[in-house]
Amino acid sequence: MTTFDKILPCVTELLHAHRGTVDLLDWLLINRDLNGRVRLIVPEAIETEEAIRSQMGVFAESLAEQLGAHSHPAKAAILYEASRELASQGATSHSLEGFGHVWLADRLATEGNWAQIAPETEGRRRVVFFSIKGGVGRSTALAATAWTLAQAGKRVLVLDLDLESPGLSSSLLPPERQPAFGITDWLVEDLVDNADEVFESMIATSDLSHDGEIYVAPAHGADPGEYVSKLGRVWMPKAEANGSLESWSARLQRLLTKLEARVQPDVVLIDSRAGIDEVASTCVTDLGANLVLLFALEGSQTWNGYQVLFEHWRRARVAEAMRERLKVVAALVPEIDRVAYLEGLREHAYEIFVESLYDEIAPPSTDAIGPAPNDNRRWQVRQIVEGWNFDEADEGAPHSPWSVHWHRSFAGLRSLQGRLAVIDAQEVKAIFGPLIEGISGILDSENVDV
Ligand SMILES: Nc1ncnc2c1ncn2[C@@H]1O[C@H](COP(=O)(O)OP(=O)(O)O)[C@@H](O)[C@H]1O
Ligand SMILES: [Mg+2]
Repeated sequence: MTTFDKILPCVTELLHAHRGTVDLLDWLLINRDLNGRVRLIVPEAIETEEAIRSQMGVFAESLAEQLGAHSHPAKAAILYEASRELASQGATSHSLEGFGHVWLADRLATEGNWAQIAPETEGRRRVVFFSIKGGVGRSTALAATAWTLAQAGKRVLVLDLDLESPGLSSSLLPPERQPAFGITDWLVEDLVDNADEVFESMIATSDLSHDGEIYVAPAHGADPGEYVSKLGRVWMPKAEANGSLESWSARLQRLLTKLEARVQPDVVLIDSRAGIDEVASTCVTDLGANLVLLFALEGSQTWNGYQVLFEHWRRARVAEAMRERLKVVAALVPEIDRVAYLEGLREHAYEIFVESLYDEIAPPSTDAIGPAPNDNRRWQVRQIVEGWNFDEADEGAPHSPWSVHWHRSFAGLRSLQGRLAVIDAQEVKAIFGPLIEGISGILDSENVDV
């Protein structure tokens, strides 16, 4: 019996078997519909070309035979369309390995396809805090990062996009400073062209910083109101005057651009949702992030989750667009046996980066790379010289973690806001040092380039 995961291997095998015919087509689209059933879409010019048409008919018969329930019946398995763009509308599509003109159009019931990667934003530094599992100290680390960067005089914009379990804003703002509205309100009001009503009242500044400023856009306002009802609508695409639809992630990007224009931040810190989730997909792939932090506890649950994601990027052929922005963060590093713990974590991270994201080229010797062990952007040089690969021990590599230490003063805190109000630079450095130094390093090195 053929199940979902056999679809692509089967299709690829058939493409090889029918290569002679397939290569006669300008393009071929493998359409995998919402139910996971496959059809072939070919250029409409083929309809009148009897020879190719009948050969494609043979292809469709083998397809139906091999895919069983995952193919439309052979007679209905071929559609004709004027162009590939028209045929792939509304789907994520990418070309298949070994066949530059054969595309997979994958139609999902959710918008979070994880495979359309927006180019990095220029000028602004957008940093996304992501984790495959929740409860790893991600929001806390984000708050500590915001605190430190602001102390160093930076203007920091913080977005709480963990909409289903918000909380970041309360760690940066005491109750009396919470703004009246949040991101959810803006997204809902935008649907009825009423977003300007809430825009000026959805950002608050934190009183934790002394030199720079921390601007916080919370998930909801001081009074969440009918939060569940609003949350159920934020994903709505918006109908535009010309009849086209603006996706919810495009709306969110519009909000982010507006917030940046208003606040003029040096850096934007985005708290994403955890897991392979629709909002997380938007944060990681659609917002033009310059750096995506992958928070990780050592353990097979973490690496299995990241492996699924990395493999998806590899198959969708977007690994190159994603991998340069990634950096693993070792979360809640235990007090005991730290070195051994971090070594284990780095080793397991390396395994999945090598398997899915790094190029298959032998790593260069350390001498060939040159000095500067603390330069986080070193991999860009290597990319040109040697292909995209690293030594396991290379601290500048995306798999090599920046760490955040577990510390009892943060465990089971009642009020993170209260904790941050009395924290000092020494303590922050001891717990969050490598993470914050890493982020600062990237901000500074990018500024030099600008
Ligand atoms: N460095 C740390 N050391 C010890 N406990 C921490 C640390 N960071 C966060 N915590 C605690 O872990 C829990 C989850 O933290 P949180 O930042 O909300 O995680 P996440 O955003 O990943 O869900 C909270 O109780 C928090 O106080
Ligand atoms: Mg959180």
